[in-house]
Amino acid sequence: MNLILLGLPGAGKGTQASLISDKYNIPHISTGDMFRAAMKNKTALGLKAKKYMDEGELVPDSVTNGIVKERLQLDDAKRGFLLDGYPRTLNQAQALQQALSSSNRRLDHVLYIKVPKGILMERLTGRFMCSNCGATYHKVANPPKVEGTCDKCGSHDFYQREDDKPETVEKRINVNEEQTEKLAKHYSDFNLVREIDGEQSPKKVFQDIVDQLN
Ligand code: AP5
Ligand code: MG
Repeated sequence: MNLILLGLPGAGKGTQASLISDKYNIPHISTGDMFRAAMKNKTALGLKAKKYMDEGELVPDSVTNGIVKERLQLDDAKRGFLLDGYPRTLNQAQALQQALSSSNRRLDHVLYIKVPKGILMERLTGRFMCSNCGATYHKVANPPKVEGTCDKCGSHDFYQREDDKPETVEKRINVNEEQTEKLAKHYSDFNLVREIDGEQSPKKVFQDIVDQLN
């Protein structure tokens, strides 16, 4: 299955991507995670992405399209993939289309997780992640089962994302709003969009996604 997860910052893309990837055994490809890994390793890509991410701006398409194209050529993505946070512009959607057509692949579904803008700020400023495995939590809505211990890997180390400061969050939401609507419209024209109510519990959101995919 070849899937895209569409949604504003904080809609729950990463949370659902991890569940979908486990259930359907397809790689979770997050451009945000790829940029953060590159930043951590201080690679040329990381240095380039950092100045945009710190400001809550989009990394230029010329950079982003290249890394996704390469990633989709790896063997594990040939039996299916789940894109999280890509495409984010119409130009990226076109680049993706070209990359897929050239290898005789096509998209199956675009899962559009819809959440009212008003609750995104609270979700993002309350988010924290496991430093070891990257599992995502929220201090109120989705804490680890045992306080201070990651459910997935047992680590006790957590961190908050640099771009989850309130002023950067606001910028990110504004930057993404118009593009996300344009992409939803674009993929609706191909009858690929499955709208998901992202305001429910993470478990219920996942159930709705599974129902749609079945
Ligand atoms: P990226 O890392 O993709 O960030 P984002 O799109 O801003 O989305 P988030 O990861 O913040 O939110 P999410 O939807 O994954 O929510 P999550 O599941 O974590 O991109 C970061 C930056 O990289 C961009 O700003 C840009 O600079 C650059 N970039 C990335 N891709 C790019 C591209 N294609 N082009 C150009 N630039 C690009 O959940 C959020 C919180 O809510 C968590 O605490 C979670 O526990 C909680 N939560 C989740 N679901 C629920 C629920 N149902 N109910 C209550 N709480 C919930
Ligand atoms: Mg994410």
